[in-house]
Amino acid sequence: MPSDEFASLTEIVARARVQLPRGVWDYVMGAAETETTMKRNRLAIDRLGFRPRVLRDVSTIDLTASFLGEPSRLPVFIAPVGQLGHLSPGAGADVARAASAFGVPQFLSSGSPPSLEEVAEAGPDVVRVYQLYVTGGPDFVDAAIDRAVGAGYRGFCLTVDTAWYSRRERDIHNRWGIRWQKAGFGPGADFLAALSWADVERVRARCSIPLVLKGIATAEDARLAVEHGVDVIYVSNHGGRQLDHGRGSLDVLPEIVAEVGDQAIVLVDGSFCRGTDILKAVALGAAAVGIGRIACLGLAANGSAGLVRVLELLEDEMTRAAGMLGITTIDQLDATAVTEAPVVADPSALSAFPLLG
Ligand SMILES: Cc1cc2nc3c(=O)[nH]c(=O)nc-3n(C[C@H](O)[C@H](O)[C@H](O)COP(=O)(O)O)c2cc1C
Repeated sequence: MPSDEFASLTEIVARARVQLPRGVWDYVMGAAETETTMKRNRLAIDRLGFRPRVLRDVSTIDLTASFLGEPSRLPVFIAPVGQLGHLSPGAGADVARAASAFGVPQFLSSGSPPSLEEVAEAGPDVVRVYQLYVTGGPDFVDAAIDRAVGAGYRGFCLTVDTAWYSRRERDIHNRWGIRWQKAGFGPGADFLAALSWADVERVRARCSIPLVLKGIATAEDARLAVEHGVDVIYVSNHGGRQLDHGRGSLDVLPEIVAEVGDQAIVLVDGSFCRGTDILKAVALGAAAVGIGRIACLGLAANGSAGLVRVLELLEDEMTRAAGMLGITTIDQLDATAVTEAPVVADPSALSAFPLLG
């Protein structure tokens, strides 16, 4: 089916659910233990209501943003996802093709094929960040930096909320990825557990491109990141897949934005899968918003064309919502656009898609 026949994000999610084997679906949609962190990601978004302004001439709307100094069609990027080969054969290269076709940045996970060089070749014009799981010593990290810089990556990202591998019960019960379940992140997991601010300092000094720390969830760590020269603070709880009973990302974002001010760029992810979700994060100070699972489902539904369709539909939702909010550009959004409001749905992995039941 051509991707433009997906008339809504709901149809894409429904198609992915039919196409994916149960184990892969659960790997993508699942989270740690009680899945409370993941549900709180959704709850934090749901409990903000908009304060729309009217009579402001919104005939023309421009949602372009900038990312690491480069233009981006939306304030959206593709979050790093490991094991993408389960979702589409080209894995990271398919994401690169979609990011290039649509015009948004891509984070590539070190946990996903093909090589970072092949991904760069698949979408040479994409603003791309290489995300590394530190499963080796300084030589291992330095080699990754050199390869990423050599292949034209614009940023280097360390994921830091993975000191230990969580217990993801859907995967455990499906006996999916059982090798990983036993050995955490596999060979080299000890390096992840031992990672410290001294390593961040060393990487910052060694790395010639902007350094991103992914998995910051407190103002205290955001402050330390700034003090260690980190350029981009990526607020995330790994989509609720790591520490259970964490706070929702959108609940965390304001304290971090307030702490760092203009000393670093702040990104966020965690259950953002609708146009209005993204506008709420931008209103609270995120420079851009990462999409994880909804990007995976686009890939699963129809490869890179499916991911492009996800982005088109998000853009359509965002454009219409911007018009109804009374804004014509992204920088007109600020915290006055949102306020606390009653929640109407039980948060879950699929609660943003109520037609799916
Ligand atoms: C299937 C899957 C694999 C992931 N793999 C990685 C990874 O390799 N590196 C990483 O930093 N984060 C990884 N994440 C976390 C995402 O980058 C992101 O933080 C999270 O998915 C955001 O929440 P959302 O999926 O609700 O949008 C993964 C997430 C999913 C769903």
